[in-house]
Amino acid sequence: MNRLRLAALLIFAGTLSACQLGHDSPVERGRASFQAYKCTKCHTVNGEGGVLGPDLTFVGFRKSSDFLERWLINPQAWKPHVSMPNFYLREAVRKDIVAYLATLQGDFYIREGRPWDAPQFAGDSVKRGGEIYSRVGCITCHGKGGVGGYPNNNVVGGEIPKISTVKDTYSRDELIARIAKGVRHSVKADPAGPDPLLYMPRWEAKLKQEEIEAVAAYLLSLDDHGVEEKAEEW
Ligand code: HEC
Ligand code: HEC
Repeated sequence: MNRLRLAALLIFAGTLSACQLGHDSPVERGRASFQAYKCTKCHTVNGEGGVLGPDLTFVGFRKSSDFLERWLINPQAWKPHVSMPNFYLREAVRKDIVAYLATLQGDFYIREGRPWDAPQFAGDSVKRGGEIYSRVGCITCHGKGGVGGYPNNNVVGGEIPKISTVKDTYSRDELIARIAKGVRHSVKADPAGPDPLLYMPRWEAKLKQEEIEAVAAYLLSLDDHGVEEKAEEW
C-alpha cells in the first residue's frame, strides 16, 4: 500500500472511530445542547442539577420520544401555565435533545446508587416511597401528592387520573400489581383518534419489588379527601 492510500485509510478510520465513539452522534450533540441551554439549572440528571423542574434521570423511560418532541416544541401548548420556558429550539437541535433524553433510562441511579437509599429514608417506607415517587417521575404525570390534573390527549376527561385516593378503590396487592405492570393503552375518548401520548409505564422493568411496595405504601398513606384543588405544577 502506498503512503497516500495508507494516510487516506487512517483518516477514514479516524473519522469512523470518532463517530463510533459518539463524539458527533445525535445523542452527544443533544447532551451538549442540554448543557448549552442550561436545562440543568432546573433539572437534575444523574444526580446533578437543579430542582425547579423534575429529575430527568428516568425521563427516557417514562416518556416516549413522540411526547418529548411535542413537549419541547411548546411546553405551554401541552400544559398551560407551566413554568418551563419555550426555548423555540430549531428542529435539528430539538431532535438531538430528544435523542439524548431518550437515553436517560434511570440506569445511572440503578448502577451508582439510588437517591432513596440515602440514610434519611431508612426504615420509613412511606417517606422512602415518596422519594421514589418523585425521583422516578410518577410526580410528572400524577402530580404532587397524586392530586392529578396533568393533561393527556384523547382520554376520557382529558387528564391522567389522580391517585391520591387509590386506597378507596385498590387493595394493597392490586395497587402493587398495577404499578408493576402499568397500562400500555388507556381507553381512548375517540376510538378512531390517536393513541394517548402518555401512558402508565411498566415499573417492574426498573424498580425492585420492595421499591414498588414502598411507593404503594406512600400512595396508601395519602389522604386528600376534601381537597378539590389540583396541582398547578409537577
Ligand atoms: C426554569 C426552569 C426550567 C428550565 C430552564 C427547563 N425546564 Fe424542563 N421543566 C421545568 C418544569 C417546572 C417542568 C415540569 C412541568 C410540569 O409538568 O408541570 C419541566 C418539564 C420538563 C420535561 C417533561 C417532564 C418529565 O417527564 O420530566 C422535559 C422533558 C423537560 N422539562 C426538558 C427540558 C429541557 C430539555 C430543557 C432545556 C432545553 C429544560 N427542560 C429547561 C422547568 C424547566
Ligand atoms: C408517563 C405518565 C405516567 C407516569 C410517569 C406514571 N403514571 Fe401512573 N398512570 C398513568 C396513566 C395514563 C394512568 C391511567 C391508566 C389507565 O388508563 O387505566 C395511570 C394509572 C395509574 C394508577 C391507577 C389509577 C387508577 O385510578 O386506576 C396508579 C396507582 C398509578 N398510575 C401509579 C403510578 C406510580 C406509583 C408511578 C410511578 C412509579 C406512576 N403511576 C407513573 C400515567 C403515568
